[in-house]
Amino acid sequence: MIQFVFGSQWGDEGKGKLVDYLAADADYVVRFHGGNNAGHTVIVGEKRYPFHLLPSGILNPKAIGVIANGVIVDLEVLLEEINNLAKDGYLLKNKLLISPRCHLIMPYHKALDEAYENARGKNKLGTTRRGIGPTFADKVSYNGLRMYELLDWKGFVEKFTFQAKIKNKILKLFGVKPISVKKELVKLAEHRKTILPYVREVYPVLQKAQNDNKKILLEGAHGVMLDIDWSPYPYSTGSNIIRGAINTGAGLPVSRINRSWAVVKAYLSRVGGGPLPSEFFGKTADQIRERGKEFGTTTGRPRRIGWLDLEAVKFTTSLAEANRLAITKIDILTSVKEIKVCISYKLNGKKISYVESGYRELAKLTPIYKSFPGWTEPIDKIKKFSRLPKNCRYYLKFIEDFLQIPIFYIGTGPERSQFIKI
Ligand code: GDP
Ligand code: IMO
Ligand code: MG
Repeated sequence: MIQFVFGSQWGDEGKGKLVDYLAADADYVVRFHGGNNAGHTVIVGEKRYPFHLLPSGILNPKAIGVIANGVIVDLEVLLEEINNLAKDGYLLKNKLLISPRCHLIMPYHKALDEAYENARGKNKLGTTRRGIGPTFADKVSYNGLRMYELLDWKGFVEKFTFQAKIKNKILKLFGVKPISVKKELVKLAEHRKTILPYVREVYPVLQKAQNDNKKILLEGAHGVMLDIDWSPYPYSTGSNIIRGAINTGAGLPVSRINRSWAVVKAYLSRVGGGPLPSEFFGKTADQIRERGKEFGTTTGRPRRIGWLDLEAVKFTTSLAEANRLAITKIDILTSVKEIKVCISYKLNGKKISYVESGYRELAKLTPIYKSFPGWTEPIDKIKKFSRLPKNCRYYLKFIEDFLQIPIFYIGTGPERSQFIKI
């Protein structure tokens, strides 16, 4: 059984919590794209675990965590995550595999991300400044360094020094302080020792797992609206987010995926710049932001708030071939008097689809809304769909009918146990 979880909006839909739930009986939990721009939260009792690189399902004692080749890795961030889990008794020895094909996010990538963002001034994109774009750029221009290079330290030092010297020249052009090659190499030498025991080719492991009918759970990062090809570029992130990325990023055949879970937040949020047709402001937006704790898991930035955009989600769920919906954070809409949903777009009086709109059109078009009456009853302890307030059920049914994909999970709170299974 292979399951795939992906974000159907602009990220932070609640993927981490769903992955943690689905991982309860998984044999392998796999990240296959993106980097530590991802921030996936799992809450266990009083403890909050923000996962950036480790798969969010790793808390499950049975599951082996896999960081497959499509992921780009900042060693410092990964080691911090491993150490934080160890403090709570989650030991990853023999429980984590990292592909030697993963590209490394280097200190100069972070410096370049920062320098580009600062230089863009008012046109900044709002990246997480984690070095994501520059690392993927180096990967496709053959200037990247893979985890594999760490196996031969002498060779690594030579390649790192060559790249760092060139990047330092670019940083100088930006008027930014260059990185210290010597100091960074001292840190990298330390990180290397700790990370190498986890590094091995994961392809045969995942192939055997699928041949043995093991349960494999693939954790998408970000939201499809940020996909490098299908987003309103350049308001994007550096990787592909759709099913096809599983084939390139983990070597698994997409035809073998049984369940494709689209995580749909009952409203939407976005961090970073770019057009967001259903964005709204004011008291209700502020209330949703506060109650929904809509502040970036990675950067802490306040998230922009919008109504659920079904025109966009219709596109992403079709592109990613979703066959199951997980609706999250419906509890946050309790007490919102009038809930709106964007059902189509109009530009100059004519209908226009999401896929036909570039960033200029998305910024100008008019979202067409359908309004729903809200409910006031708290729903965070409800365990059965039939017990939800009538208006809430009506809202959920509308989403299901509109997208023509069945709902299998409804998130009713941030805690592990707060959900309705259908
Ligand atoms: P991800 O990036 O998609 O994994 O999402 P994040 O973890 O960045 O953001 C989702 C936030 O909402 C986290 O703080 C979660 O703990 C929280 N969350 C997830 N599902 C629910 C839900 O159904 N209700 C509420 N109230 N919070 C949720
Ligand atoms: P999760 O996995 C929300 C956004 C950034 C920025 C754009 C480019 O938690 O859903 P980058 O640093 O990737 O080059 O920034 O992408 N972005 C996310 N926004 N959640 C995420 O991940 C994101 N990953 C990238 O805010 O707009
Ligand atoms: Mg997140």
